[in-house]
Amino acid sequence: MIPHLKVQRADAETARARLEREGLLHPDFRAQHDGDFVLWPLAGAAEGEIVQCKGRPARAIGRDYRDALSPELRKLAPRAFDMLGHVGILRLSDEAQPHVTAIAQALLESHANLRTVAVDSGVGGQWRVRNLAVVAGDDDLVVLHRENNLRFEVDLQQVFFSPRLAGERARIAALVRPGERMLDAFAGVGPFAITAARAGAQAVAIDGNPAAEKWALRNCEFNNLSSESFEFHTGLAEELVPRLGSFDRVVANHPTGSLAFIATGLAALAPGGVLHLYLLADRKAPELPAGVAEELSDFASVSGSRMVHPYSPGRELRVLDLLRKSS
Ligand SMILES: C[S@@+](CC[C@H](N)C(=O)[O-])C[C@H]1O[C@@H](n2cnc3c(N)ncnc32)[C@H](O)[C@@H]1O
Repeated sequence: MIPHLKVQRADAETARARLEREGLLHPDFRAQHDGDFVLWPLAGAAEGEIVQCKGRPARAIGRDYRDALSPELRKLAPRAFDMLGHVGILRLSDEAQPHVTAIAQALLESHANLRTVAVDSGVGGQWRVRNLAVVAGDDDLVVLHRENNLRFEVDLQQVFFSPRLAGERARIAALVRPGERMLDAFAGVGPFAITAARAGAQAVAIDGNPAAEKWALRNCEFNNLSSESFEFHTGLAEELVPRLGSFDRVVANHPTGSLAFIATGLAALAPGGVLHLYLLADRKAPELPAGVAEELSDFASVSGSRMVHPYSPGRELRVLDLLRKSS
């Protein structure tokens, strides 16, 4: 279920513009109509009447960029794409590759706020950086992204960033109690830690990618946080975490490395603290994917489990909330 903002049809466009400006419009879903009302899918906490309902998948909001293509190309061009700041990001099938220029140009021309179109051939390497090739428009992959009333700047060629986690960042921030100590162990440019710090946490962020710190500190400044509520350490989480004291909340968003981090993450929690663990799971897998139960032992219990978003056919990004027992 996805939270939606319910507004009168007459107010729908004003509400959409406001949500888009504040980075609260969910990029993976589209509007729904219910009598005299329009329901806008949300990627964060918004003011107004909120209703929970099944999301209607559709990445592109507005007109379909494929309308400008020939019927043959239209069949090959993907309907879905990501929009990150001024960059449109396409994933192309092998059949679509020879037509990349025409497809990218159609996307660029259909969205006035796009200046660049890039093709994404996946996340890779130790620092999970997206492999992007600019195929139309300006050769500029430094983006300014807005979500949850915050601004994040990132060079997509240097550091991982995903706009699809905006809803999760809002969820975690809503759980934060003022003054709690929060650790973001795989922080990238800091969106989880910064969103939590804005909600009142004392946030500590770690990332191994040497390029992450510069962007994280810049984003800290962009979002008016002082060094008292946000600190950043460059290094490997498994080495740094045991030296940083205990935390009320730990976020571990490193889906391909999260299993190996469970013991370290739980050991860093104060009794009653929570580890939010992001991992890839089979959509049909039970609540606890293989290997997790062994790591929990008597130390922790599962207080929540939900899909964040689909990842590939048959797999999903899942978050487990693991509660460290009090004694
Ligand atoms: C999936 S990204 C998540 C980034 C960030 N949390 C976000 O939501 O944008 C995983 C991050 O973990 C970092 N990383 C990978 N291995 C690491 C390690 N052993 N210690 C610290 N950071 C690591 C990568 O550089 C990358 O930024």
